[in-house]
Amino acid sequence: MSSNENQELSEVSVIGLGQMGARLAQAFLAAGHRTTVWNRTAAKADALVAQGAVGAATPAEAVAASRLVVVCLPDYDTVHDLLVPAGEHLAGRVLVNLTSGTPEAARQLAGWADGQGAGYLDGAAMSGTRLVGRAEALFVFSGSAQAFATHRAVLASLGNPVHLGTDPALASLYDTALFGLAWGALAGFYHAVALVGTEGVDPTVFAAVATGHMPFVTSLMSDHARQIEDGRYPDDDGTVEVHAAAMDHLVQASGVQGLRTDVPEVVKALLVRAGAGGHGSDGIASVVEAIRKGGQDV
Ligand SMILES: NC(=O)c1ccc[n+]([C@@H]2O[C@H](COP(=O)([O-])OP(=O)(O)OC[C@H]3O[C@@H](n4cnc5c(N)ncnc54)[C@H](OP(=O)(O)O)[C@@H]3O)[C@@H](O)[C@H]2O)c1
Repeated sequence: MSSNENQELSEVSVIGLGQMGARLAQAFLAAGHRTTVWNRTAAKADALVAQGAVGAATPAEAVAASRLVVVCLPDYDTVHDLLVPAGEHLAGRVLVNLTSGTPEAARQLAGWADGQGAGYLDGAAMSGTRLVGRAEALFVFSGSAQAFATHRAVLASLGNPVHLGTDPALASLYDTALFGLAWGALAGFYHAVALVGTEGVDPTVFAAVATGHMPFVTSLMSDHARQIEDGRYPDDDGTVEVHAAAMDHLVQASGVQGLRTDVPEVVKALLVRAGAGGHGSDGIASVVEAIRKGGQDV
């Protein structure tokens, strides 16, 4: 690995070049930014250097090389342990942490970075590795608004950077919430593929129709968010009772076709619980009330 011999600052440093970190570094390079990299296993950094990156010999050297320091490691403890020896170089830098973790861990690391005189942005890559570098790749950030404004253009090399607010915990909160949202949709998709597959429909043929259905679903999210804010649930999109009956058809049809019914059973149970809680004739967004009741029966 070559060291950062000349003293010219890079635009950005990337520490941790696993699956995600390597894609981040490549996206910065593709956007024309001078990029310094460090990785525990040197071969992965060498591969990036071959693509035009500057290699750093240590995490401290990587931190010193750029005003914007992006870390992407397995967990926050590793981030902290790696950066402690680099602490003296962090003053005046902005640390962007794209490691997955909990809101509490984000607050703690933000506090530590603040103590080093560094700005802090917690972040989450919401589009896997496959879209990194493309405009539709969502990256959520939270923490210092000033740091985000200063480095927004460079962060936009990764995709669509969205600043959620100044609380550093927000990015990981959204990360887990959006993960659950994606899995809710994907679980429904996988069940649907299995169901139409019992009649010989190819998954790709079904997917072409299913993706055309998604704009309707996303339009419901916008409308229902307003209903939830208002605490009023008009039945324009059908009542909880009507949807519970329709979900029962899906459960029954799936069972008849020899499928496991656990995916639609989860949704049916939610609708039944909302109905039992007095929302049977309300619109379906009222199920949020049944979720907010936590461990209570309704
Ligand atoms: N991959 C994705 O699609 C994806 C999507 C969203 C978020 N993320 C998040 O991104 C983060 C990184 O994920 P990844 O998929 O890139 O993981 P990965 O491919 O397993 O890479 C892990 C990286 O961490 C380094 N590392 C591990 N332990 C270390 C230690 N003790 N000291 C120094 N370096 C260490 C590894 O170095 P070596 O090369 O030396 O092993 C490697 O660079 C995770 O928090 C993950 O949840 C990943």
